[in-house]
Amino acid sequence: MADVALARIPLVRAPSTAPVSVPTEPFVKWVGGKRRLLPQLEPLMPAGVERRRHVEPFVGGGAFFFARAPQNALLCDVNPSLVSTYEAVRDDVDAVIRALGALARRHGKERYYAVRERYNAARTGERPASQSSTAAMFIYLNKTCFNGLHRVNRKGEFNVPMGRYKNPRILDVDRLRSASAALRSAEITCEGFEGLLRSAKPGDFVYLDPPYEPVSRTASFTNYAKDGFSQDDQRRLRDVYAALDRRGCKLMLSNSDVPFIRELYAEWKIDVVQAARAVNSDASARGKVAEVVVRNY
Ligand SMILES: C[S@@+](CC[C@H](N)C(=O)[O-])C[C@H]1O[C@@H](n2cnc3c(N)ncnc32)[C@H](O)[C@@H]1O
Repeated sequence: MADVALARIPLVRAPSTAPVSVPTEPFVKWVGGKRRLLPQLEPLMPAGVERRRHVEPFVGGGAFFFARAPQNALLCDVNPSLVSTYEAVRDDVDAVIRALGALARRHGKERYYAVRERYNAARTGERPASQSSTAAMFIYLNKTCFNGLHRVNRKGEFNVPMGRYKNPRILDVDRLRSASAALRSAEITCEGFEGLLRSAKPGDFVYLDPPYEPVSRTASFTNYAKDGFSQDDQRRLRDVYAALDRRGCKLMLSNSDVPFIRELYAEWKIDVVQAARAVNSDASARGKVAEVVVRNY
């Protein structure tokens, strides 16, 4: 009886103090970032996308997520430092801004290598630091290291040398605040893409942007995390795609336009988009490159 009475009481929400989430851009540089591809990806989104949960199992820098700033999202990545940084920016952006401001003021070679050492000691637990100050170190290193790369050695230590920037923009307060607001409505987890089998729901819009299958052996940029992303991983991802298709999710996947990927996804709809190469040390390989977008709708 009490339940029936409760069900009849109209839902009155307390005035929200949450900041309004507005479209923004990534607060980290990330290899494979989708920022420049967005004008070609957005028209390919499914009907009614604004009512769907936005799910990104390979979130990286989150260009697509931040450009959309959706009301409801699930973001995942296998990189624990990245995920922890997202959590800190969402939950305590003021502390991240304060710590990053202090690091930025004294930027230089000595500072860079001292922060890198301190960051690795924090991550391994040798010298614990709070989540917000570790996140500030992560962002500082990302903005000042060579090409914004995230590379770790066998021991899991970040080992990228300092980049050659004259005046790097290390602290962007507005960007961090709008990212924090956008993340307020997002659940963020550190897990591999197979976690989707548990978490994805019918009707979700799932954008999958895995490490790409290399076009050739020398063009391999698949080593994002400690373990690379092999052809077996690409096959396992296709199996997850097929399972989510049967579940009723709306799926959109990016990858390079190579026969291996076209064969894996032959039963779905494949469009081609033209991307600019973001990172390539081989000048002859710069320019536009074809990518596929695989959709099940
Ligand atoms: C191409 S990047 C994504 C780029 C992103 N869309 C952006 O705009 O920055 C691929 C991401 O997949 C993550 N990753 C690699 N292997 C993974 C796995 N097995 N499961 C989930 N994420 C993985 C990497 O850490 C990396 O952040």
